[in-house]
Amino acid sequence: MQERLQKILAKAGIASRREAEGFITAGRVAVNGMVAAELGTKADPEKDLITFDGKPVRCEERKVCILLYKPAGYMTTLKDPEGRPVVTDLLKEVPERVYPVGRLDYNTEGLLLLTNDGDLANRLMHPRHEVDKGYLVRVRGSVTPDQLRQLADGVLLDDGMTAPARSALVKESENNSWISLTIHEGRFRQVRRMCEVVGLSVVRLKRSRYGFLEIGAMKPGDYRLLTAAEVEQLRTDPSKPPRKLQGSVSKQDRQKLLPEEGRRAETAQRSGVITAFDRPLTGKGDRIPTRSTEKGTSIPKKITDERVGGVKESTAQRKTASGTIVRKSNAHMHNSKFKK
Ligand code: URA
Repeated sequence: MQERLQKILAKAGIASRREAEGFITAGRVAVNGMVAAELGTKADPEKDLITFDGKPVRCEERKVCILLYKPAGYMTTLKDPEGRPVVTDLLKEVPERVYPVGRLDYNTEGLLLLTNDGDLANRLMHPRHEVDKGYLVRVRGSVTPDQLRQLADGVLLDDGMTAPARSALVKESENNSWISLTIHEGRFRQVRRMCEVVGLSVVRLKRSRYGFLEIGAMKPGDYRLLTAAEVEQLRTDPSKPPRKLQGSVSKQDRQKLLPEEGRRAETAQRSGVITAFDRPLTGKGDRIPTRSTEKGTSIPKKITDERVGGVKESTAQRKTASGTIVRKSNAHMHNSKFKK
């Protein structure tokens, strides 16, 4: 298939499209031995010999895995018959044809992986490799210890009992409560259905963790490429961070990095006021160390959930310990329903 040269170079991982345009106009790119210095030039990577600085361009698409903060109001598909926004609309600068690993509901926000690596996607989605997924759920009114316990023990949905989970009360306000829920299954609308069964009305749902990956301080619409070490770790054991990341952030820095919700959760846990239920997960996930508070309950020593929601931002790139985060101008990403 004929494609513009800058797209071919970008897909091959040589440069961004914009940089590639510079290389083309500088006469550094040739097609079948002829310098192609015009920007509109197209070539067929399967039939033509494309060279950059005299060296053949390997046209095989590089494998990438992207961590996106999916905003609410986006479909986790490549196209929507009803014309609603889709997650790949947020990745226009990514030349690779990535597709989502699993799905988040239209109204769910948070951590979503997208990749063009079929083997990685299959591994992550295979029931044998069930990955722990952490959610922050804002519900109407207050939450009782019994409701938390039911969520952790498992509830009966129309497609069977849910597996043991971890649940905790993170924060309460006058009208709402935030709970965290960690599950390793990936059934359709599972968290919403679990909450409904125990009588909780979900106002907002955010996935904050996928295996060892956390959304941290990213905002709706932000995304970043996973590092090679992170991808390798996802392949081998998604429950543990890659070695290089383990213990790399000091306790002091972590407090600074943790947005408000997480800080409050940690403080509340230290003072023992938070209620949490920690049931053994049957999957391979990492276990949050717990300490007992009263009979039948335990509280996690650490919760790494983070601030919920976002603010308007303009397009920018920000280097962080975990890579370059691409930040979009995201005025369009804020569904008023999700504002406090
Ligand atoms: N559970 C849900 O109910 N919805 C999601 O999008 C993800 C998990």
